[in-house]
Amino acid sequence: MNDKVALSPEAQAGSHCPPAKYETLYRHSLEDSDGFWRDQARRIDWVREPSVIGNWSFDPVDIKWYEDGVLNLCYNCVDRHLPARADQKALIWEGDEPGVVRSLTYAELHGQVVRMAHCLKAAGVSRGDRVTLYLPMILEAAVAMLACARIGAVHSVVFGGFSPDALRGRIEDCESRFVITADGGMRGGKLVPLKANVDAALEDGPRVDAVLVIRHLGNEVASTGRDIWYDPEAWADAGELPCEPMGAEDPLFILYTSGSTGKPKGVLHTTGGYAVWTAATFHFVFDYREGEIFWCTADVGWVTGHSYIVYGPLANGATTLMYEGVPNHPDFGRFWDMIDRHQVNIFYTAPTAIRALMREGDDPVKAHNRASLRLLGSVGEPINPEAWRWYHQVVGDGRCPIVDTWWQTETGGIMITTLPGAHDMKPGSAGLPFFGVVPELVDAEGVVLPGAASGNLCITRSWPGQMRTVYGDHERFVQTYFSTYKGKYFTGDGCRRDEDGFYWITGRVDDVLNVSGHRLGTAEVESALVSHPLVAEAAVVGYPHDIKGQGIYCYVTLLAGEEPSNGLEQALRQHVRKEIGPIATPDHLQFTPALPKTRSGKIMRRILRKIAHNEHDALGDTSTLADPSLVDSLIEGRRNP
Ligand code: WTA
Repeated sequence: MNDKVALSPEAQAGSHCPPAKYETLYRHSLEDSDGFWRDQARRIDWVREPSVIGNWSFDPVDIKWYEDGVLNLCYNCVDRHLPARADQKALIWEGDEPGVVRSLTYAELHGQVVRMAHCLKAAGVSRGDRVTLYLPMILEAAVAMLACARIGAVHSVVFGGFSPDALRGRIEDCESRFVITADGGMRGGKLVPLKANVDAALEDGPRVDAVLVIRHLGNEVASTGRDIWYDPEAWADAGELPCEPMGAEDPLFILYTSGSTGKPKGVLHTTGGYAVWTAATFHFVFDYREGEIFWCTADVGWVTGHSYIVYGPLANGATTLMYEGVPNHPDFGRFWDMIDRHQVNIFYTAPTAIRALMREGDDPVKAHNRASLRLLGSVGEPINPEAWRWYHQVVGDGRCPIVDTWWQTETGGIMITTLPGAHDMKPGSAGLPFFGVVPELVDAEGVVLPGAASGNLCITRSWPGQMRTVYGDHERFVQTYFSTYKGKYFTGDGCRRDEDGFYWITGRVDDVLNVSGHRLGTAEVESALVSHPLVAEAAVVGYPHDIKGQGIYCYVTLLAGEEPSNGLEQALRQHVRKEIGPIATPDHLQFTPALPKTRSGKIMRRILRKIAHNEHDALGDTSTLADPSLVDSLIEGRRNP
């Protein structure tokens, strides 16, 4: 499957980065890193230009970029565009129901951001305070992020699909005293009771000073003394509110993400490096041209929404589309219908959505003309070559280049990708490193593997968009990312490099699941399961799933005397949904009298993984198990998911 798809001449015409330029810029980015990133920093307007560019070390771990620079990212995304783009649309929003559309020009966005910033200040939010956002995909989500950035508050967006318990944990961890939510949101015709979830999260839990509630649906919700109903009109005459000058290394946001152990980590990104990284990657990777409409289908609750719905596009003065709903509502033609109605030029989505839509056949796609499309993107998980080809041939009519972008919450923005205009494409390969990125493959012992090889993916040098710490736990940051291979950032992904230097991500090598492009720790699902009163022990692994990429396979041991039943299976599914959220719903649950353990009591996940993968013949050595006979009963108990 190493065959290349050549770039069309149309794709190369007018590109920001033809092949020779990629070579030159990539070399420059390594040979003169400071010079290169000084140049790229010109994409940003600084209050004080940085004189120090990169200042970092991976051993000991200390990462700074542009440390003496001063800037405000809201200013860069909004105010500075006003002279040239006041009347250009900054954001277009479409609701869950087709054709329900609102938009904001840059001038209107400025007005809305200033109003919300006034309201936040009046509620007591100051520079450095954490503000938790728990919102549907509405314009106010972007407005709230930018309003926080404007006044120097640190936003922590929590995906609206997370449960009250998950929300509470994230409010507590960053000691956030402010929450911004909405009465409710709509997804696929179903109401998500966001405000009620916030109330549940705060019951007997963290004390917050205020909950700012945005009226979106107008549904009935309970009120409490801490609620402030947001009325933008009330702030219409409040006047300008200048942007807070921020140090480049001042925190911009926290975003929780799952790791292989423990509870989710608060990934902390700072202002200057993140601004430059998102602005530069958006410009080069999407090859953005003046006036184009960009649509990223992610949710702002994930990093993709932060970097490529809000900050990257707006820093470039682009027009970015936000969609409240899901790909199959009211039917499987929804994406393509929206692409036509909004004349979308660049479309960025996840393999799981592509596979789900591919399953419905070509007709729903062909029913729409999609002539506006120029470029397609993929993100979040490995894309299988079959889905890649369908995306290319059917969705893009063979005309549009595909950028398969590999990156992580931790990396802030795109790290490995083909560049449209610069490289031929290989279906299923993310391509080549972005400027300044030096990937390295190592084996389990840390030996560096040169040339064509397969191994664990590390990055050897810092880049401006890199996360700086785990909020409140710098030691965890060091341990998680820099201790497996000393002096290197370890991504947690496995990867193959081919003879052309193209990278093929093979997926996580740690205990992180990627379910429909959503990251989940097996440990989180396990702890949700064992919090059920009848469960003694649980072990969770991923298994290949046609649409979701990975499904969630749970092995459950009940307390002595308890009997498995269909009813209990359903109850456990519900329990996990309630504890974490619908994205964590187990796909497959197997009751077992015991878990396979070594004599020292360690669960042998390798065996559980093999059984879940239906690879019973490849279990490997089982002689170290305390009870080797358990394996047969596990195999027998496996039902097809
Ligand atoms: C996976 C999402 C293959 C990978 C931006 C990574 C990918 C994890 C790709 C990060 C891709 C993301 N090809 N795998 N193009 N993009 N991944 O933090 O396993 O939600 O480590 O960031 O998604 O997920 P996260």
